[in-house]
Amino acid sequence: MKETLLEIEGLKTHFITKKGTGRVVDGIDLTVYKGETLGIVGESGCGKSMTSLSILQLVPEPGKIVAGSIKLNGDDLVTKTEKQMQAIRGNHISMIFQEPMTSLNPVITVGEQIAETIRAHQPISRKEARIKSIEMLRLVGIPSPEERAKQEPYQLSGGMRQRVVIAMALACNPELLIADEPTTALDVTIQSQIIKLMKDLQKELNMAVLFITHDLGVVAESCDRVAVMYAGEIVEKSTTEELFRKPKHPYTKGLLDSIPKINEVQEELTPMKGSIPSPFTEHSGCKFADRCPLATDICFEQHPSLVAYENDSYQVRCFHYNESTSGKDVGHAKQS
Ligand SMILES: Nc1ncnc2c1ncn2[C@@H]1O[C@H](COP(=O)(O)OP(=O)(O)OP(=O)(O)O)[C@@H](O)[C@H]1O
Ligand SMILES: [Mg+2]
Repeated sequence: MKETLLEIEGLKTHFITKKGTGRVVDGIDLTVYKGETLGIVGESGCGKSMTSLSILQLVPEPGKIVAGSIKLNGDDLVTKTEKQMQAIRGNHISMIFQEPMTSLNPVITVGEQIAETIRAHQPISRKEARIKSIEMLRLVGIPSPEERAKQEPYQLSGGMRQRVVIAMALACNPELLIADEPTTALDVTIQSQIIKLMKDLQKELNMAVLFITHDLGVVAESCDRVAVMYAGEIVEKSTTEELFRKPKHPYTKGLLDSIPKINEVQEELTPMKGSIPSPFTEHSGCKFADRCPLATDICFEQHPSLVAYENDSYQVRCFHYNESTSGKDVGHAKQS
């Protein structure tokens, strides 16, 4: 039986400005089970980072969570004070950002930075923290960790810096690691190494990972399940295997058709027409309708709900998907 770690229900994060309301996260339901890797994939601007910042209660101004709940082990994070959240960040949930330098202080040695992170969360001496920081550097595969610990970030390569950031994120044994495009700034070989490292550490530490990426190749390599986001909503959710075997939403199909396939004679790649709408655009119908090859009148008039099929083994938000008659509405978005 899978045990629920994080449960997001009906999450809406909006930017309320003079020129209108930007619905950057617009009614998301998402469950992360203990120990699994869940991917969130979608084009730039679809709301992936805002979803992860919402979980950590770090949405920048003028953004605000206006509806929904985010429960970690049953405890709603949306109602927490900043002080309570500080204890949760780092101890229960850690985050790795795309660019390692945003999380590193350029003028402090990496060993000291890891030790400081450990001491911010655990009552141990400086000396113990220093020893543990070297252990962490070893754990993330940094050669000669005693030497490297004494160096400042600029003395390390990009891949090594990202390993240091991972070491910092893991130093306090989080139950959930949110990795927001952790490998996009790295070259492909280093990217694979970092993904493999994260997978190994995840098993070792029995941690769940929320893996945010625009790269379906990375999803295939690293995720158990995946949620496809479009314009602040989830349009398809399934196991990674099912998603690649049989994508169901026209947007997911479009994403898959625009990347090269392995082990197949390459047909021509077909980039998707159009672009993602601004979160400030009002929609009465499906947000994907004007880019969709299947769109009919209903798609421009009514908003489709996320519907679960085959005992909830996958969910699709599309009027034109009707594989089974057992579809069950699971959407909160339609209440908006
Ligand atoms: N301060 C802000 N004010 C208004 N809108 C914002 C602000 N910050 C972000 N947005 C908008 O929120 C939407 C979602 O942004 P988000 O950063 O979550 O996208 P993303 O899916 O992470 O994209 P990427 O793949 O480029 O990282 C975008 O349309 C973005 O323009
Ligand atoms: Mg982002």
